[in-house]
Amino acid sequence: MSQHKVFVTRELPAPALDRLARHCELDVWDDFLPPDYAILLQKAQSLSGLLCLLTDRIDARLLAAAPHLKVVSNMAVGYDNIDVAAASARGIPVGNTPGVLTETTADFAFALLMATARRIPEAQRYIHAGRWQTWHPTVLSGRDIHGACLGIIGFGRIGQAVARRAAGFGMRILTHSRSDREHSRAAGAEPCELDDLLEQSDFVSLHLPLTHETRQFIGARELALMKPTAILINTARGGVVDQTALYEALRDKAILAAGLDVTDPEPIPLSSPLLTLENCLVLPHIASASVATRAKMAQMAVDNCLAGLRGERLPTCVNAEVYSKR
Ligand code: NAP
Ligand code: GLV
Repeated sequence: MSQHKVFVTRELPAPALDRLARHCELDVWDDFLPPDYAILLQKAQSLSGLLCLLTDRIDARLLAAAPHLKVVSNMAVGYDNIDVAAASARGIPVGNTPGVLTETTADFAFALLMATARRIPEAQRYIHAGRWQTWHPTVLSGRDIHGACLGIIGFGRIGQAVARRAAGFGMRILTHSRSDREHSRAAGAEPCELDDLLEQSDFVSLHLPLTHETRQFIGARELALMKPTAILINTARGGVVDQTALYEALRDKAILAAGLDVTDPEPIPLSSPLLTLENCLVLPHIASASVATRAKMAQMAVDNCLAGLRGERLPTCVNAEVYSKR
């Protein structure tokens, strides 16, 4: 396999990269920032394998420019950066990294929920601004998490892991997915229609993939259904929320607060009105960023890449239809 050329679009944790290097001719992009699209296009011409990140746009044009490409391996569970239909049309399997990041991402979604509800970043800014003069009966009061109602939209791996954490806080859990009714009940949650979930929840946490169907899933109509005391948490993808509508809802106190790990675009421009709001906590897409989990994601991405180069079925493939066509 050593004749196979593989481009890796960023430095990965060393054990994974070393393993890949033993099996192919590696080209690793060692800049801090992702390669430009033009560079990807130029490299594509000679590649057998591409190990990419969610920051890399892998579209039909790029795939068409890669006549020898045997595999695209994304180091992420989400794959909205890849035109999977175009890859399938060319018979190229696409791999992702589900499961290994589920618990870490759920930990972080819950951390974001707690930080937003209890106004932790705001309280730290309060100290740094020299405003802490005394204990006060009402200053920096937040919302209780225990006993509150949590609405989970997208009840897959991460949504279910968030529900397990919420159960420990004695929360009532409502869920909305297209096909979750049985496993929702089995998890002690209540499956319901989207509008009912939005109207009843104190916290709404998003765990959907970004697809044509879910783009701007939460817009002005959905935000208007939420309680004025409700908090929106997004660790899914920025594009799932209409950010202009969210800004207006937060500014007008139509909802209480939001905690966002993901934005559209990323990075969020410093001029974004969302960054002017005290009731909006924005973090730089780090929900899966634990040392152990990132190492596992890198190994999984290497497993997919190596399997693709060998012509074997990828351990985690998002377009398994490529195998039935063979
Ligand atoms: P998953 O197991 O596939 O769960 C996604 C869930 O969304 C499924 O239960 C699916 O169920 C539901 N869904 C899809 N389309 C829907 C629709 N139109 N309406 C309602 N529900 C819908 O994926 P996961 O591993 O939990 O990951 C979820 C997403 O989290 C990823 O795609 C990624 O974008 C994001 N993520 C972000 C980070 C981060 O660092 N912030 C880390 C990991 C993952 P049905 O098909 O039954 O509807
Ligand atoms: C991160 O956002 C992922 O999809 O893995």
